[in-house]
Amino acid sequence: MLTLRGCPISRARANWAVDYRPGFVEQIAQWRAALRAELAALLPSAASIVWEIGSGHGHFLARYAAEFPQCLCVGVDLRNERLGKSRRKAERARLPNCHFVRAEAREFLLALPTGVAFGEIWALFPDPWPKKRHHKNRLLQPEFFEAVAARAGEGTRWYFRTDHGEYFREVAGFIPGLKTWQLEPDVAWPLEHATVFQDRAASYHSLVVVRTSHPARPVETVAPGLPPPTGPKSPA
Ligand SMILES: C[S@@+](CC[C@H](N)C(=O)[O-])C[C@H]1O[C@@H](n2cnc3c(N)ncnc32)[C@H](O)[C@@H]1O
Repeated sequence: MLTLRGCPISRARANWAVDYRPGFVEQIAQWRAALRAELAALLPSAASIVWEIGSGHGHFLARYAAEFPQCLCVGVDLRNERLGKSRRKAERARLPNCHFVRAEAREFLLALPTGVAFGEIWALFPDPWPKKRHHKNRLLQPEFFEAVAARAGEGTRWYFRTDHGEYFREVAGFIPGLKTWQLEPDVAWPLEHATVFQDRAASYHSLVVVRTSHPARPVETVAPGLPPPTGPKSPA
């Protein structure tokens, strides 16, 4: 007899059912509630934030926050030890406008308080997932751009840099098909400050996209599915 959490199930259902360990779904709900509470406490109810996705060791955002003290900066990353280093940098440099949050980027989007919008977005050397069968794990995909658009006003810029030529070409290739973002060639970056991964790169490619006036779909419609029981794995 096949069972799912102790309940008998048909062989057909067993072929597609994911057997999350007991309590996992509840744990995810608690974790999402905790992230929502953390962001509600951290961010003013109506705020424009500079968002760094995959902020790593925090070099870039800490420098950005120091250069632009009027900007409220929030970096997200999955890795605790990198977040710890980032927070220590912000503390040492006395940067009350610089915060680092442990969150998966799509979960962060979903947990963001209603009045908070992105003023600027940075994705520097996101994990390229180089193997073809792993491309589906890449964060920068059309659905993600559409989801972020729902929290970005017209004119918001998104800066992207990678040392992975194929990832770069993929992103540059699908942007013209999006209604909510368009490529903005020849725009000067407001800040250049090498990250850990930029320092390791032999060369890299950069692009900037800007939010158009086209209305975005509500963010709920592009929510990620429940993550796998072990959580997303990052190769870098
Ligand atoms: C290749 S590292 C680059 C770090 C930093 N931006 C740099 O240039 O040095 C990618 C970072 O993104 C984080 N990351 C990967 N997927 C993520 C996701 N879905 N949400 C948030 N952070 C993510 C990883 O933990 C890792 O620290």
